Amino acid sequence: DGVAVGTAVAAPAGAGGTSGDPLHDDARYREVAGQQFSSVTPENQGKWAVIHPEPDRYDFAAMDAVVEQAEANGQRVRGHTLLWHRSNPPWLTDALTSGQVPDAELQQILHDHVTTVVGRYAGRVQEWDVVNEVLADDGSWRGDNPWIQALGPGVVRDALRWAHEADPAARLYLNDYGVERAGRKSDAYLELVRDLQAEGVPVHGFGVQGHLSVESGFPDGLADNLRRFTDLGLDVAITELDVRLPVGDGTHASGADLEKQADYYRQAFSACLEVEGCTSVTVWGVGDAWSWVPRNYPEHGAALLLDEHLEPKPAFRAVRDVLAGA
Ligand code: G3I
Repeated sequence: DGVAVGTAVAAPAGAGGTSGDPLHDDARYREVAGQQFSSVTPENQGKWAVIHPEPDRYDFAAMDAVVEQAEANGQRVRGHTLLWHRSNPPWLTDALTSGQVPDAELQQILHDHVTTVVGRYAGRVQEWDVVNEVLADDGSWRGDNPWIQALGPGVVRDALRWAHEADPAARLYLNDYGVERAGRKSDAYLELVRDLQAEGVPVHGFGVQGHLSVESGFPDGLADNLRRFTDLGLDVAITELDVRLPVGDGTHASGADLEKQADYYRQAFSACLEVEGCTSVTVWGVGDAWSWVPRNYPEHGAALLLDEHLEPKPAFRAVRDVLAGA
């Protein structure tokens, strides 16, 4: 099947309405997202705060729109995400942290959510980032994950099992950042995968996010690290690739940085292409105007393949050339 080339598609994190959603409001965005990529990930539309804003109310409008658009374009969909420490609605955070809600009830909340969301998109979402960012940099369980704080790491197994029951065909992933290289964090994921497999827990993939910076160096050994996971029988994917650049107080990147960025993108795509079992590379946004980077890293941006006007950058051409040679 080859390697799918994906993009995150943007939409407001607020309740499911479509206002401000470029997939609806911007014809050029829709065309580029629909034509240049073979897979999409809802950047925020599948997160708990968006899709399950109140205990007894789900809001599928935004996620439905992404899935329908992808189907119309013949694209795959990567679901994102079911168990995470961020973008949870206040009611859920309260339930998990108050100490007032019995464990069995918290488990029931997770069970309902996973079953409802995965079940709704069964057969239409091919991969799910079920478990997102559960380990800290030193490989321990993250101290700020309210699920793990409340229920212990067994929730990881529960979420995977329930997701599998809701859609036996979906490929279920663990996904994290800072795991591009071999090291404490990716080593710990390797251990976790071995443990899950030994217990018969359904886990099918490992997602390496790939939020890179030209100032930090390209993660050497990426392909070898991916192979450690495919050697265990897992699929792997690069799920959230971007390469941020210093842009001063504007959006202007230097030519040298743009070339360096192109080389990072080339290396990331090459690594996936050379690893059997690497199924996709997803970039974390269609163009620089929609990237999360400038909001989170002062004086950095220009992290994607297309610029603010959706015009191709050197990185776009580098990726096109790598894929043409594949
Ligand atoms: O749309 C609302 C707006 O209405 C509101 O006024 C404003 C006030 O804060 O928030 C806006 O929503 C923001 C949303 O992005 C859309 O811009 C949220 O606050 C903000 O938290 C949200 O950030 C997202 C972040 O995850 C948290 O969910 C980013 O878009 C998204 O790119 C980022 O993606 C994550 C992956 O899911 C997991 N890996 C890391 C990656 C980057 O942080």
